[in-house]
Amino acid sequence: MNMKKILHALTACAVMTTTLAPSLVLAHGDVTPQAVDIGKLKPLGDTLLKVNPYRGDKEAIAVGLSAYTQNCARCHGIDVISGGISPDLRNLDIDQENDTYFLESVLRGKVRNGAVYMPPFQGIMPQEAIWAIRSYVDTRRDSLAAAAPLNEKEQLAKKSGCLSCHATDAKGVGPAFRAITKKYAKTKNAETKLIAKVTKGGGGVWGSVPMPPMAESASANDIQTLVKWILDGAK
Ligand code: HEC
Ligand code: HEC
Repeated sequence: MNMKKILHALTACAVMTTTLAPSLVLAHGDVTPQAVDIGKLKPLGDTLLKVNPYRGDKEAIAVGLSAYTQNCARCHGIDVISGGISPDLRNLDIDQENDTYFLESVLRGKVRNGAVYMPPFQGIMPQEAIWAIRSYVDTRRDSLAAAAPLNEKEQLAKKSGCLSCHATDAKGVGPAFRAITKKYAKTKNAETKLIAKVTKGGGGVWGSVPMPPMAESASANDIQTLVKWILDGAK
């Protein structure tokens, strides 16, 4: 092989790994989106609405429950109780801003720098199906109050956006906090190293999915507090 061919082969390889990373995340659950029967719902047309037109509608809630269970529960949790792998959707307040955000999140998915944290449902789910899911999710908000309260550090982790991808003991998009505690128990300068990593983001240590730069959603002080807490056992 001459040099040019080798270079070509190498670039082909690089392209393959970048496209592979998202599919690996997808492979995490069963990706095949399930068709949603919207026959019983009031048709909404092509213009995307900003407010959920079905809120409180019994038929929509039933359709939403089934659509949610087949398409969303593997990441956001059965009965909309997230185990920490993905955000707990019960936290989204019921108002116009969150309605619009919900619709857009589902249509566009959550893709950053080529990594697919959540697949886009545009072209797969009509807005009728998404509003039905939103109607169902709203009915699950009451169950939040019954959940165990988070301690002060867990609340900080939640406020800083860490719990979208991390949980204390379970692997999510990112490693379990206590797996991180263990891995770095004997590492010198672990605190400095991990503060830099959380601030700037990056991947390659736990797998091919990178962590986004968290400096956008957490202050330097909070990142330091959280890293210390993780190294100390995330209790
Ligand atoms: C492969 C896993 C996966 C599937 C399937 C999935 N999501 Fe997500 N979703 C995520 C992750 C991870 C995030 C957070 C990503 C981030 O922080 O950017 C997210 C974020 C969201 C958000 C924004 C929540 C917030 O608090 O900011 C909404 C709304 C949402 N998902 C709804 C849905 C709905 C509805 C479905 C089913 C139609 C669904 N998701 C399917 C993984 C998934
Ligand atoms: C969108 C998903 C996501 C969010 C949000 C997120 N992380 Fe991560 N985190 C990851 C992934 C993925 C990895 C594994 C990166 C790797 O393999 O190098 C990771 C790794 C880590 C590590 C170990 C890094 C290493 O090099 O071993 C720490 C510590 C960490 N995260 C803390 C946090 C903290 C604190 C927050 C909130 C301020 C946070 N993460 C928010 C996805 C995320």
